[in-house]
Amino acid sequence: VRIYIPRDAAALALGADRVAKALAGEADARKLDIKIVRNGSRGMHWLEPLVEVETAEGRIAYGPVKPSDVASLLDAGLLEGKAHALCLGGTEDIPFLKNQTRLTFARCGVIDPVSLDDYKAHGGLKGLEKAITMAPVEVVKEVTDSGLRGRGGAGFPTGIKWKTVLDAPGDRKYIVCNADEGDSGTFADRMIMEGDPFVLIEGMAIAGLATGATKGYVYTRSEYPHAIAVMNEAVTVARTAGVLGPSVLGSGRAFDMEIRVGAGAYVCGEETALLNSLEGKRGIVRAKPPLPALQGFMGRPTVVNNVISLASVPVIMDKGAAYYRDFGMGRSRGTIPLQIAGNVKHGGLYETAFGLTLGEIVDTIGGGTASGRPVRAVQVGGPLGAYFPRALFDTPFDYEAFAAKDGLIGHAGITVFDDTVDMLKQARFAMEFCAVESCGKCTPCRIGSTRGVETADKIARGVEPEKNRALLADLCNTMKFGSLCALGGFTPYPVMSAMTHFPEDFSPAPLVEAAE
Ligand code: NAI
Ligand code: SF4
Repeated sequence: VRIYIPRDAAALALGADRVAKALAGEADARKLDIKIVRNGSRGMHWLEPLVEVETAEGRIAYGPVKPSDVASLLDAGLLEGKAHALCLGGTEDIPFLKNQTRLTFARCGVIDPVSLDDYKAHGGLKGLEKAITMAPVEVVKEVTDSGLRGRGGAGFPTGIKWKTVLDAPGDRKYIVCNADEGDSGTFADRMIMEGDPFVLIEGMAIAGLATGATKGYVYTRSEYPHAIAVMNEAVTVARTAGVLGPSVLGSGRAFDMEIRVGAGAYVCGEETALLNSLEGKRGIVRAKPPLPALQGFMGRPTVVNNVISLASVPVIMDKGAAYYRDFGMGRSRGTIPLQIAGNVKHGGLYETAFGLTLGEIVDTIGGGTASGRPVRAVQVGGPLGAYFPRALFDTPFDYEAFAAKDGLIGHAGITVFDDTVDMLKQARFAMEFCAVESCGKCTPCRIGSTRGVETADKIARGVEPEKNRALLADLCNTMKFGSLCALGGFTPYPVMSAMTHFPEDFSPAPLVEAAE
């Protein structure tokens, strides 16, 4: 009997290794014939560690399982998928999972992440097999036609970026995967790397064939040790099987790749700082132009794409641009892996077509707050994203719709706060975050963020609040338009949205001053 227990970092943090050990020990003692498969996560964090059993009727889920539950689960007939207080029924029937459109994450949590046979048995490599029969320009056209836009946050059309690299002259070209997932509350990149590494490898190989790049790098952070281990193992397996190497799937065209680990500075997720770090230099932002697509890694034409952008390419190549483009709304085509976190009942990864409203995501899918208190604010797009009040819950999840409300969808991180949140503190936190993470290259970000913290503190103390609110807004304006990169340029989003939508938190009574 095959039993699945995730090796995903979120499941491990919640005790998955201990559950696997307890189950192996108990099965040994009872002389039961089981095979424990360490899969990726299905993305339902409140149910981790989720244990699944393969039965004739499909996989049956149990969760969240503690080591002390193992004996009673076996007594109840775990191996036959029998009833138990922790039984959730068929995994695919759990509403959170059933209502998703899993294209990029189709195999995540389903397969053994490091088994190429399992990958192929679930439709893997079909995209690459198709790509090797096509001319580079045709592959680029397919990706362009799919409408895929950069899932790292900026939403730049992936096909157009690839075309720039394909057309750029260069003796060598590179594919660099940005896996430096720095946004707090996001985990889609990590989940793919830990749960379905071959889909990223396949996407990178397709990008290589499409642009003429023969070498790829995955740049990730040292905080992701499990992802690094799985990726390294998968790259070795792919190389041995001829998926990577001098002749990709026997095509006679070369592509190989390796995993590189940064030290975890937020700014190294900015593509030019990332390239500097990859070259062994200090992770500091480079001025653009030149675009990395023309002069990137080692001065050569380079595709820099996020994990999810690259991992979405295999399904596009396999099922066709029209199939992918059919999902979504407006200029936001295909699916997006929402990462629901913070004070929320049902947190986790939810892949869906663009277009759900923020209210549907937070109230229906997320189930409201974990504390049971009313939702007050939702930050969308990571620590540099805007805070949305309930009044804006009708905003559809779409790049343009969020921009029209002075927000961004970014890497699709969604962090929920209840009515105990202090929005002035959140605004201060954004400035402090920027001050800590700034690379220091430009003045608005380096100095503005520190002045921002001081100004927020003055407002909190009730010192000339009107003047300091105006100063904070002015500072945001300077940072937004005067910063060299998105770190300084986007910090105003959380600050300004907090001030605009929650003005009451920026007019505290001057209690501290009075006490002084
Ligand atoms: P950007 O708008 O400057 O560039 C987007 C991409 O398009 C870049 O790769 C750029 O080189 C490329 N590009 C632009 N014009 C091009 C052309 N003509 N031909 C080929 N390529 C072209 O945005 P940036 O600074 O790269 O990213 C900002 C975003 O990063 C923000 O929206 C934010 O949401 C996101 N972000 C994501 C984080 C994460 O953890 N995933 C962390 C922090 C920020
Ligand atoms: Fe560096 Fe900040 Fe300027 Fe970006 S905005 S280049 S992080 S100082």
